[in-house]
Amino acid sequence: MKKLLGVFAVSAVAMTVYTYPMYDGQFEASAKSKCDPKKAGDKLSFKEANKVYDCIKKDLLAGYLKGPKRWIPKSRVQNYRKWTAVSTLPANPGVHGGRFLFTYVNRVGAKEYLKYADEGVKMPAGTLIAKESFSVTKKGRVRPGPLFFMEKAKAGASPQSNDWYYYLVAPNGRPLAVKVMKACHECHSGFAERDNLGYPLEDARVK
Ligand code: HEC
Repeated sequence: MKKLLGVFAVSAVAMTVYTYPMYDGQFEASAKSKCDPKKAGDKLSFKEANKVYDCIKKDLLAGYLKGPKRWIPKSRVQNYRKWTAVSTLPANPGVHGGRFLFTYVNRVGAKEYLKYADEGVKMPAGTLIAKESFSVTKKGRVRPGPLFFMEKAKAGASPQSNDWYYYLVAPNGRPLAVKVMKACHECHSGFAERDNLGYPLEDARVK
């Protein structure tokens, strides 16, 4: 029995790294919200998802801002909404734990990012990217998701991750320590020709 539990624990840990269920779970799993679309997440149209986003937008940011940020500069969380929005609506591409995603890029990187180029992309050092997330359960309840960041450090700072730093803040404001190579970069390295960028779904891109 003990052995069985051990195996289960290991696979549960491996799973959480990729789907982050525990982060959303910290958010009163059964709480109802006035923003609930009352329709399963995978049945929502872009318009409906956008309505949910508009409704939770303020609370989402208030959650991210709570408490100390430790190794993440607090100003980053305070300022990212003033950066350039590179999504027009929150789309759910089925990655990042099946969440709806909305992305902002700072002034250093916005012009390059907005080309959504497929090859030869080289983001300038100092680029900061923030991506908000939320999910909608099968029962149509909205759950805030983590705030994900990518930061392009100066050349040579982190060769193994192509000079990208990755970090994230839980919906309750806590910075989350994850093994970023496995939890973030391994997947992002699949977009090698685009300097590791995934980009929003085409329908959610700024034209
Ligand atoms: C399973 C693959 C996968 C994993 C794991 C993953 N990402 Fe992503 N990420 C993507 C894809 C695909 C996109 C583009 C999705 C979208 O915006 O619709 C993306 C987008 C992003 C963006 C917006 C910039 C861009 O690439 O367009 C940030 C910031 C980001 N991810 C941070 C992280 C962090 C931090 C982690 C680790 C905690 C992580 N990601 C883990 C696939 C992944």
